[in-house]
Amino acid sequence: MKKILVATEKPFARPAVDGIADVFKQAGYELVLLENYKEKKDLLSAVADADAMIIRSDKVTEEVLEAGSKLKIVVRAGAGYDNVDIAASTRRDVVVMNTPGQNSNAVAELALGMMVYTARNYFNGTPGTELRGKKLGVFACGNIGKDIARIASGFGMEVYGFDPFLERTVLEYAGMMCTASSEELFSQCQYISLNAPVVEHTIRLVNFKLLEKMPESATLVNTARKELVDEDSLLKMFAERPDFKYISDIAPDCSAEIAEKYPGRFFFTPKKMGAQTSEANINAGIAAARQIVGFFEQGDKTYQVNL
Ligand code: 3PG
Repeated sequence: MKKILVATEKPFARPAVDGIADVFKQAGYELVLLENYKEKKDLLSAVADADAMIIRSDKVTEEVLEAGSKLKIVVRAGAGYDNVDIAASTRRDVVVMNTPGQNSNAVAELALGMMVYTARNYFNGTPGTELRGKKLGVFACGNIGKDIARIASGFGMEVYGFDPFLERTVLEYAGMMCTASSEELFSQCQYISLNAPVVEHTIRLVNFKLLEKMPESATLVNTARKELVDEDSLLKMFAERPDFKYISDIAPDCSAEIAEKYPGRFFFTPKKMGAQTSEANINAGIAAARQIVGFFEQGDKTYQVNL
């Protein structure tokens, strides 16, 4: 009987776990749950006899792959797979997949929710500002960027997009005006939403040269990864532009300094919350389970990311 490990340091909502259990029960697989674990050694021992594994932001390092010597497939229930050692997985013939689009609405709703919360001064009783009529720039326009554009349009925002990998028509179909460069996007838009994956060329891509182009009352919104933003540039921007705010679902390493020096100009969730809804957990968790069954039963490798 195939053994499938669901290893989630940040657990799925209960209905998602029930749905995953159902998929594996019907397939005749055994499900092992490792939720809320605190120590790496717990993951290393749980993965030892697993044929497949579902994870979220859990780190799959060479050491984890070594411990899971029977692993054939790892599915990241979510979009970003920068937490998985892709090269080591490929070397060991372990297929890695993600579940694109399954949690994008949850992330997009959080982005807009944080924007409203900050624009309204954290609902502290003082007059804030509205989103209607403001310009939003979507930096990378995949599933999450498109959902953000859809919701922002509903707020009456003017939405612009930049994505070097997508045709202009794709952005326009998703309700975004296409800009030709990241410089143009940052220069146009008071709000910028970062939605790019972390890969070699995107690490610290958002630097002072880009940030300083943002017009007055600039707000940077990050529901992607903290690594996209150069933190020296972030601190310089806070120091030189008193109008600048930073809202992020992943606190930067310099968050203590920002909190001490720039109160009222930031918001950081205490733990990554973008995909933390029942619906996103159900969508991504069950998709991951079905992808594992499809892989073992039909050899289906759709959504493999280590090609
Ligand atoms: C993703 O890449 O799918 C999101 O960042 C969600 O991550 P999480 O599953 O750890 O909440």
